[in-house]
Amino acid sequence: IPVEPFDLVVFGGTGDLATRKILPGLYRRFWAGQIPEGSRIIGAARSEMDDAAYRAMVHEAIAEFVAPDKCDKATLTAFLDSVSYVPIDARGTGGWQQLAGLMRDDVVRAFYFSVAPGLFGDLAQRLHSHAIADPDSRIVVEKPFGRDLDSARKLNATLAEHFDETQIYRIDHYLGKETVQNLMAVRFANILFEPLWNAQYVDHVQITVAETVGVGGRGSYYDKSGAMRDMVQNHMMQLLCLIAMEPPYRFEPDAVRDEKLKVIRALEPVGHDDIVRGQYRGGPRKSGDDELSYTEDVEDPHSLTESYIALKASIANWRWQGVPFYLRTGKKLRARTSEIAVVFKEPPHSIFDEDEAWRENVLAIRLQPNEGMNLSVMIKEPGPGGMRLTDVPLDMSFAEALGEDGADIPDAYERLIMDVIRGNQTLFMRGDEVEAAWAWTDPIIAAWEERGDRPKGYDPYSSGPEDALMLLHRDGRRWREIRG
Ligand code: BG6
Repeated sequence: IPVEPFDLVVFGGTGDLATRKILPGLYRRFWAGQIPEGSRIIGAARSEMDDAAYRAMVHEAIAEFVAPDKCDKATLTAFLDSVSYVPIDARGTGGWQQLAGLMRDDVVRAFYFSVAPGLFGDLAQRLHSHAIADPDSRIVVEKPFGRDLDSARKLNATLAEHFDETQIYRIDHYLGKETVQNLMAVRFANILFEPLWNAQYVDHVQITVAETVGVGGRGSYYDKSGAMRDMVQNHMMQLLCLIAMEPPYRFEPDAVRDEKLKVIRALEPVGHDDIVRGQYRGGPRKSGDDELSYTEDVEDPHSLTESYIALKASIANWRWQGVPFYLRTGKKLRARTSEIAVVFKEPPHSIFDEDEAWRENVLAIRLQPNEGMNLSVMIKEPGPGGMRLTDVPLDMSFAEALGEDGADIPDAYERLIMDVIRGNQTLFMRGDEVEAAWAWTDPIIAAWEERGDRPKGYDPYSSGPEDALMLLHRDGRRWREIRG
């Protein structure tokens, strides 16, 4: 779908997210010819600098985060020509007149709030009082969207004072991942899976987002969040919704978001016994900082924040009655891997010998790395030795299957920024969705805080705390291996 020319203002334009993701992402889209001529990118931040200095900074970011084969001089120069900078005081008056003077009437106006949530209200208010935003303008806000239901409600209310819900794009970058969108394609563009996608045929679902990185460098943010707020309330919740939701009547923003909301609202409260929280220990110190423990990384020996969480969620509706959804995510685990595994039940009756080991059919969708799908099926072992069964994978890597088209998959941010310009909110969270997710999360966190629960230690680069194994063992199930 073609994109209209635009003015995109990036507040926090000198920050980490802007230089690591937003600006390099915009450059990659420019390189791919998807940014129409006449579009402009305006960085806005507190530092005093001129256009030339900002362009140099953007140039540096592109050199660091974009593959060299995309960085030819002509494209770079053309891109940097579209970049400018306004020093701005989010809480004061400085810079706002200048920004107002730059805005054009005949293009899409978008404002990316890549700043701390405490500034959202100030920016929204000033965009209005200086008549910089018009009724068709869009604002993009980043997570964390609140730290509980109360703060999320307040944020929603603040934004709603100046912008209509149709103008607000709440980013969850997981929704921009190609494979996450593929979940919907797999489910709703094939007849094969949907008839089996329910409590009659699905035994359970496992959602794993494992990371190898620790929290070093962002400890002060992370220690106030923990894995539940940082990953489960948003990214994992979105994955759960896409797996569990009813088919929307169309692939349209509110049709999709209505169905996701229903899933979140149907989530049962999670009991104490159905949660395991972990915190990584230190390693053998052979390689310096890599081996610091969580409490050393966040510089608080008494921290009770979790860097790992596993939990069993249940969805109280007809489709999913009695089907557990096991979620786990953590830092400093064995491998960086994200996958969703739908584990099917055994056939109702076996015609083969009793002692033939039966293994369940599993549909595993790998989000990263090596995006793809793997369906394990039972077949006969080759040879004359009678009917012996074994399970084999039907394995598909999206990149291989799609050939050249699969080689240049856009990064999540690139995809989402283009959707903002197109005015398509399907892959963004609606205010009520975020609030419903907090409404489920809040009591879980409150309960462990009240008890003063201590997270279980786990070894760095392991699969997480031992107790997490028990969460499945006691239900007669096993986690899938965390493999890179
Ligand atoms: C972010 C979290 O939202 O997502 C990080 O704050 C986490 O803690 C990151 O590392 C994971 O994203 P990705 O795309 O690397 O899986």
